[in-house]
Amino acid sequence: MFRKTKIQLVLLFTLVFFLILSILGISLYLYMHKVSFNTIDDKLRHKERFLLHNTNDEFTDENERESERKVSYLFWGKDGKILFSDPKNAFFKNEISSLTPKIKDKKIRTQTVNGHSYRILTHPIQGHELKSYPAAGYVQLVYNIDPEVSVLQKLLILIGVGCAFGLLLSFFVGLFLANRALIPIERSWEKQAQFVGDASHELRTPLAVIQTHIELLFRHPANTIEQESTTIFKGLAEVKRLSRLVEDLLTLARADSNEQLINPELFLIDGLLRNIVEQFEPIADIKGIKIEKDIEDNILYFGDKARIHQLVVILLDNALKYTKPNGQLLITSKKDGSGLRINIEDTGSGIPVKDLPFIFDRFYRSDKDRTKETGGTGLGLSIAKWIAEAHGGQISAESRLNEGSRFTIKLPIKNHLPKLT
Ligand SMILES: Nc1ncnc2c1ncn2[C@@H]1O[C@H](COP(=O)(O)OP(=O)(O)O)[C@@H](O)[C@H]1O
Ligand SMILES: [Mg+2]
Repeated sequence: MFRKTKIQLVLLFTLVFFLILSILGISLYLYMHKVSFNTIDDKLRHKERFLLHNTNDEFTDENERESERKVSYLFWGKDGKILFSDPKNAFFKNEISSLTPKIKDKKIRTQTVNGHSYRILTHPIQGHELKSYPAAGYVQLVYNIDPEVSVLQKLLILIGVGCAFGLLLSFFVGLFLANRALIPIERSWEKQAQFVGDASHELRTPLAVIQTHIELLFRHPANTIEQESTTIFKGLAEVKRLSRLVEDLLTLARADSNEQLINPELFLIDGLLRNIVEQFEPIADIKGIKIEKDIEDNILYFGDKARIHQLVVILLDNALKYTKPNGQLLITSKKDGSGLRINIEDTGSGIPVKDLPFIFDRFYRSDKDRTKETGGTGLGLSIAKWIAEAHGGQISAESRLNEGSRFTIKLPIKNHLPKLT
């Protein structure tokens, strides 16, 4: 699925790494080149000044050490012929001709002669300088730069090897990073695909039932609505189930797309809980189940009232659904440190240990056969979990098979809430 993206990412990572490495390498080389040539050029200019302002025939500076590499001087006549050089045998005859100065020569240039590299400063003799060197047209100061060139060459090879090695390394680093970057995307993609698959599967069942019931009506077209009321009722019940399912799916799909679904307001949590319990009491009575409550008064909470209502209804609905007659429900709500803790306990069927870690997953229903008769879609708890988390809280469950379950919601009470005066 993500093969193409992975290849593109690897190529991109490799290219970026390689570019960074190459730029670093080239900058290092250019810097070293500049530094070593600047030092040489400074030396040549210094010698040039010394030569032209020194009236003796002595070229060498007294301050210069004997061990230093020497600058050679070449004096050229106006006709372009060599006049003399210092030292005398600085170059072989055949080498000398290739050094002949030309007008378009740069002031300082690099030239290779017989496999040796030289930095050459060319100075045309003019004006008062002619007094000292009347026959000369040009003077050249020549400095052997073989050591610098050799160091730079080695550096270049080193950078080249480094870049080649870097390219290989960048490829593997790129592969590693691309894999890492794609893991969460692949996971959520798989989850989403699973969700769509499960949803379609769940939608198919009620649709098939509705279709069957409508077809049943056509078998006896002369029958009255009253005579067919059972069939119509069953069909309608499925339509209701279908709309509930679609509603739940829509909520989760919107939650996935990070839509703003939470509209917070300030409200009393105890009031909301008492209202919900009141709504549930008649149903509980019919089932012979007692609802106990232990609700702390006057707890102000800033959150989406409708969503918190939905969350508590999901849990109470489950508690009622999975508890047999003569059972008991207990709903407690307390301030707990800087947060709020709501517990919903029942003495119902409980949840097998193997199912407990998955009950908040979408479409997960423990013991499918048993839960089929109770109706439901397996989406309730995943919506509950989303609501708790969207409020910065969490939800957890403890349960013992055949003894009962306890669901705990912890919600932080944010302290930047407007205070009631
Ligand atoms: N209070 C409870 N007692 C026992 N089992 C529960 C309880 N609450 C949830 N469950 C289990 O968790 C599953 C998931 O719950 P839920 O997401 O609300 O889906 P549904 O209620 O539609 O089956 C249920 O099918 C059931 O097996
Ligand atoms: Mg449920």
